[in-house]
Amino acid sequence: MLYLAQNFEYYHTYMALSLDRIKEPVSKDLKDFEKHFKSLMKTSVPLLDKITYYIVQKKGKQVRPILVFLCGKVCGEINSSTDVAASLIELSHTASLVHDDVVDNAYERRGFFSVNALWKNKIAVLVGDFLLTKGLQVALETKNYRHLQTVSTAVQQMAEGELLQMEKARRLDIDESVYYEIIRQKTASLIAAACSAGAASTTDDEEMIQKMWTFGEKLGCAFQIKDDLFDYGDEEIGKPRGIDIKEKKMTLPLIYALNKADKKTKNKIINYVKRESDNEAKVKEVITFVKEMGGLEYAEKIMIRYQDEAIAILDSFPENEARNSLKELVYFFTQRKN
Ligand code: IPE
Ligand code: IPE
Ligand code: MG
Ligand code: MG
Repeated sequence: MLYLAQNFEYYHTYMALSLDRIKEPVSKDLKDFEKHFKSLMKTSVPLLDKITYYIVQKKGKQVRPILVFLCGKVCGEINSSTDVAASLIELSHTASLVHDDVVDNAYERRGFFSVNALWKNKIAVLVGDFLLTKGLQVALETKNYRHLQTVSTAVQQMAEGELLQMEKARRLDIDESVYYEIIRQKTASLIAAACSAGAASTTDDEEMIQKMWTFGEKLGCAFQIKDDLFDYGDEEIGKPRGIDIKEKKMTLPLIYALNKADKKTKNKIINYVKRESDNEAKVKEVITFVKEMGGLEYAEKIMIRYQDEAIAILDSFPENEARNSLKELVYFFTQRKN
């Protein structure tokens, strides 16, 4: 427990250093959002309330609400609809993490125990459902049907992406293009929804809203590649590392390394992932193989390509304080430490 608490300490110190400046143009909106978000998590069911309280105490980086507000501000004046979009997105994101840790058998999240680690899978599934439907309710009560449409499309894609990933983990026949499709669906779609819903809350210009979606998609792909690189790293990130291979998740560094390897090595490594992913030594061998084949550098290169595409889209928006912050946020996505 102490060990985990120390991770949590480290993780928050880092966040305070880097995100504070980026948040500056929308800091008041974010404070109001946080209060609102906390109140949304309250329920009269004691067990559920205990768990949602546990979750809000251990808040994440909140990059999605930051995106909603900054994209909103780039396109116009922030208003109550921007706040609804931020809540809807962060609720869906939180739900997806609670469910994802069940799917991935992961026991650590945000430097602490995951919901499934403390309360087991059955409860975690129901808590995730509660958070998802809470989001639907917020949109309906405030009659924000457009946000509801945008976010439900993204959440649907997220589920499709996670399922496609599972199918590929069973067959181990994933190639680079399928990997891009998976990360676009499971991660980039919600980040795209954050950007476009933020824009839609402050402008009627459909071209701008669509452009913000595309910007978010590029950014989201860079974000997930970074996340997949963390899995190979040695740094503390507040969640388990080295679990992708254990879960037979083939991500870009491994896909690239396998494609470059000779047939014999390729078969050997695939066999390790398929049959020996519980064997620490074999998993280590796979990691060393990926590193030696330059898999990490390759993934880094592709991540920077997505980052630059996102920056290019951003440059087509009129310059203002929010756009400058958004630009810094793009770099934060690829340079972050957790
Ligand atoms: C984690 O997202 C899930 C992925 C899509 C990789 P975040 O890294 O934004 O999670 P928190 O909210 O900061 O914990
Ligand atoms: C992103 O994938 C999961 C979601 C879309 C919720 P990961 O499984 O890699 O995310 P982490 O590493 O557990 O946060
Ligand atoms: Mg996971
Ligand atoms: Mg991950």
